[in-house]
Amino acid sequence: MSASAEARDFLWGAATASYQIEGSPLADGAVPSIWHDFAHRRGKIRNGDTGDVACDHYHRYREDVAEMGRLGLQAYRFSVSWGRIVPEPGRANPAGLDFYDRLVDSLLGQGIVPFCTLFHWDTPLWLERQGGFVRRAAVEAFAHYAGVMFARLGDRVKHWITVNEPLVYATHGYLFGSHAPGQHWRIRRMFATAHHLLLGHCTLVRLLRETVGDAKIGIAQHQVWIRPLDPDDPRDLRAADLADQVINRFYIDPLFLGGYPPEMVKRFHRFLPRGFERDLPTMVEPGDFVGLNYYQCQSYRHAFWMPFVGALQAETPGAARNELGWEIDPDGLYRLLLRLHTEYGAPLVYVTENGYPTVEEPHAGKGAGARGPEAAGTPPLEDRERAAYLESHIRAIGRARGRGVPVGGYFVWSLMDNFEWAEGYRARFGLLRVDYATQARSWRRSAHWYRERIQAGAPEGE
Ligand code: FCB
Repeated sequence: MSASAEARDFLWGAATASYQIEGSPLADGAVPSIWHDFAHRRGKIRNGDTGDVACDHYHRYREDVAEMGRLGLQAYRFSVSWGRIVPEPGRANPAGLDFYDRLVDSLLGQGIVPFCTLFHWDTPLWLERQGGFVRRAAVEAFAHYAGVMFARLGDRVKHWITVNEPLVYATHGYLFGSHAPGQHWRIRRMFATAHHLLLGHCTLVRLLRETVGDAKIGIAQHQVWIRPLDPDDPRDLRAADLADQVINRFYIDPLFLGGYPPEMVKRFHRFLPRGFERDLPTMVEPGDFVGLNYYQCQSYRHAFWMPFVGALQAETPGAARNELGWEIDPDGLYRLLLRLHTEYGAPLVYVTENGYPTVEEPHAGKGAGARGPEAAGTPPLEDRERAAYLESHIRAIGRARGRGVPVGGYFVWSLMDNFEWAEGYRARFGLLRVDYATQARSWRRSAHWYRERIQAGAPEGE
């Protein structure tokens, strides 16, 4: 591996996740995940899309890594599909391990630092059938799987992410039912899942420290910048504060401050797993860095009829929105970074996801576009909004660094278009466009722009 990439104080990267890009979910001894199961249920995913083929990265990873090299990426965040590694309780699958081994070696061959996420939502179905993360026993299964990964890749992978977005996994999977495993309004299960994921994170931090000395580990948190609809209305201020606690602070406070926000405990006590208080002292385990996944801001207003928190999301007047309707506010990223450092004392932060979706039906033809930076004559696919979005957020990181926040890197979501969960293939986040009929990857303008941005160096304060 290139020592120089490791030594940089700021890493430029891109991110993906296993179920979203790999395809071949049952190849070489892998077993189905909850996402495989969910996507094959009628009416769960737009257009009936599944991850059966996705970007066929399982077979094309070498070309994809070569593309990363052409982009000039210094780091790449990917996730491991648990069901490829542990097809049944306690048994490791050598063929699944080999795949990630080869992927990591290709990355290192290009001088790209691997950031390996262990859990990006594709729980093996066998584990879900035992209750998944709703049950505490999942923590043990998680530690077994992570131990297998540390033993196999720990000599080469020095950056690990335990869990991706416990908030989104727990709420979409057990409250809204829009993500696997598709359960609705199971509030107890939602909180149990969140608690056990955080417990799992802490367990893995300790395990890594015992087994792989010189590696860093953290959790990737989905954070939304929350504002009061009317900043002059104390009731809206209060609603925004409560929304912030339930969306953001609930998942961070235990790791830094030793407990869930007291007001949340009061309001949700009867839904929290029995005896959760006993775990809290063991949960102060922030890890070596915090991963921040940031996309949007939201406004909240007072709504007394809303259960538990009395807050309702409202449209921010005049806010810019992306094609999925998410409100854009780079300043929110700056503020969240500042808060992680000053209020929580996070020693190091990576922006582990940030990106901009465009909506395009999967088989709508837009031409192949240019194949790479050197392809002369073929204009890149236009996506000016994406480059503008990324640039404005990178500037926010520069401002945070200027204020002393130790931000160690930035990962665009995503390297290429992929299976965007319940949205299927129509929401596209890629620097590279994927033509799903041919699997051709084409450079968007944002890919060219990112390559140049990387060459210009780390974002510095303004
Ligand atoms: C995040 C997920 C990631 C991707 C982006 C758009 O919440 O972690 O897998 O879907 O949203």
